[in-house]
Amino acid sequence: MGKGHMELQVLNGATLCALVKVLGDHAALSYIGPKFYVVPSMAELLALEQRERVPGAPDVEAPISLLPTLGQGWPGHPGLSLHRAGRDWALVFTLEDVRRDGEMLHVSFVDTAARIRVTHHIGFDVGSDVLTAWNSVENLDEGVVDVAACAALTLPVPDYLTHIHHYEGRWALEYQMQCLPRSMAGFVKENRRGRTSHDSFPAVLLEDAQCSEASGDALALHLGWSGNHRISVETLEDGRAYAQLGELLHPGEIRLAKHERYESPKAFVSASDTGRNGLMQRFQSFVRHKLLSPSMRRKPRPVHYNSWEALYFDLSLPALLSLLDEAADVGAERFVLDDGWFKGRRNDRAGLGDWYVDKDIFPDGLMSLFSAIQARGMECGLWVEPEMVNADSDLYRAHSDWVLSGGHAPQIPYRNQFALDMRREDVRAYLFERLDELLSTYPISYLKWDMNRDIFHPGSADGRIVMHDYVKGVYALIDAVRAKHPHVEIEDCSSGGARADYAIVSRTDRIWTSDCNDAMDRLSIQKGFMRFFPAEIMGSHIGPAECHITKRRLPMETRAAVAFFGHMGMEVDLRQESAAEKAVLKQAIALHKQYRAFIHDAVAYRLDTTDVLDAFMLCATDGTEALISCAQLETQRTNLAGRLRLLGLDARARYRVSAIWPQSVRFAREASGEALMRMGFELPRLTPQSVIIFHAERVLDV
Ligand code: GLA
Repeated sequence: MGKGHMELQVLNGATLCALVKVLGDHAALSYIGPKFYVVPSMAELLALEQRERVPGAPDVEAPISLLPTLGQGWPGHPGLSLHRAGRDWALVFTLEDVRRDGEMLHVSFVDTAARIRVTHHIGFDVGSDVLTAWNSVENLDEGVVDVAACAALTLPVPDYLTHIHHYEGRWALEYQMQCLPRSMAGFVKENRRGRTSHDSFPAVLLEDAQCSEASGDALALHLGWSGNHRISVETLEDGRAYAQLGELLHPGEIRLAKHERYESPKAFVSASDTGRNGLMQRFQSFVRHKLLSPSMRRKPRPVHYNSWEALYFDLSLPALLSLLDEAADVGAERFVLDDGWFKGRRNDRAGLGDWYVDKDIFPDGLMSLFSAIQARGMECGLWVEPEMVNADSDLYRAHSDWVLSGGHAPQIPYRNQFALDMRREDVRAYLFERLDELLSTYPISYLKWDMNRDIFHPGSADGRIVMHDYVKGVYALIDAVRAKHPHVEIEDCSSGGARADYAIVSRTDRIWTSDCNDAMDRLSIQKGFMRFFPAEIMGSHIGPAECHITKRRLPMETRAAVAFFGHMGMEVDLRQESAAEKAVLKQAIALHKQYRAFIHDAVAYRLDTTDVLDAFMLCATDGTEALISCAQLETQRTNLAGRLRLLGLDARARYRVSAIWPQSVRFAREASGEALMRMGFELPRLTPQSVIIFHAERVLDV
């Protein structure tokens, strides 16, 4: 396999394919998109890609390879950047091996002078049409190799994808999307918060200028990693453009001794010629069928009651029991005891780390509460934040060296807590023992696993920087707990949705999407979230009439309609809600139970509407039924909202569309799927901050 080697590797999904060009000195992803009737040959591909010599540029253009390097003359951000004591930084490779393992392609290259091997791993999940790609780098010789960057994937961006749809956000307003034109100024999003982050969900959509929800060409990339990351999209001065994503490494974080390897996190990629909906459907299907545990797919998701917003740290058995009665009465099926139950935890300044039941609050342990929960036929859930410790805790008093720090740099306070060094085996062993004991003692079927701070100083007691190892340590602990207690479901939470990504989702069962329970803000949060995650893992709770965070007041009908489309729950002091509101809540929960098997299995479509509306559908794959959510966000300029055109129906079938929520709304229309999709129907009059849910049911074939 010398320098002159040339081969085309075709990776097939169900409807998409990728063309990987493997040459003697590099490999590149030449194409990802709809399958070809006739796949171009290598000669055709090279001819199509042949470019004129660029004036004022190198005589030989550096390729947009899967892992571009300085040695190749790459002018952009390096895919791979490393050195061995200040040398061996200019990497150039020779092909070593090409191997297919089912759908996966593994291609390795060696730089014999620098004594470095890199391997590209890339392949489709055929069922969902999502491509997974990552890279590994190995030190083949003596002398430590310092890795500054090893991206998961670098790929060329086709010229027609001119716009970048990216994520921003903050605590209680995650997954907000913004659009920018792609340019030579370059788009770079770096996350150094030590968790996936509120403000930088690691994904980007690249779109044509006219792309909408329902039409247009688009490509999307996501990085499955729960630590620091870097995503960039840049147009080069020679006219080409590339996108790149990978872990962001701190100085000295990855140091490879002889034969040690660094493996990048996985990148996930898909393409669509049916707008953003095509991307959303593929990513949701991937999570549903590849990442979630099959047993979770079979079990209906129980409606939650969570104690946090009703009681905060003011826990007492009588208060919990009265909330339990109320929760059972409206139809909750799982009661989650949130923060505040463990030793010394009366506020957020103490207790983290001491995972023993607080005897002042629960003198007989948690069983008095858990038995009462079980007596009502409900499941028991418990909140934990294993990775953290308060200075005011027995754990910290005994093991202050277990926390991450910045050495001589003072600790940066963050909710009064420090992160434990999850790289350490003794730390993980202590946490495993505590969790194992709780899960073995009590009938807990659900853990809410929280992580409530950014990590700016990921230094170990020995002075090494261990951010990468911290994340791996968290994964190892979750994996160990799951292996020992496979029946326990785990919710991934990080001050809301600050640690949601495909790596954590592959080892958990639900995501707490956001601390914000304001249904209006939730619409945009859930919109951004659902582009990569399906409804069944979207923790979605009905909050109090006046949202604790935004202070907005919303009727129960609206709060319930927004929570209806996720893994539904409540986080409200039901003792404060009126009888009328509780009656509406009870109806909403009953309706959710009627439809949840459908909601948690259906295909999602967002509908293109004016900015005043937020509309989406969930459709049965066989065209038999659909649910449609239509919310009016603000006052609109015209009296009526106009027509709503549907998607995802069987054009040749006939449907009856009726309003099912709020239950006071009377509305029904009958038409063919074709007419509903081409012409749409006139919406009933909506008011600001209201939501209508329609059900479309196939009545008979036209
Ligand atoms: C985080 C979570 C909340 C709640 C609190 C408890 O903020 O996101 O849902 O569990 O912690 O301290």
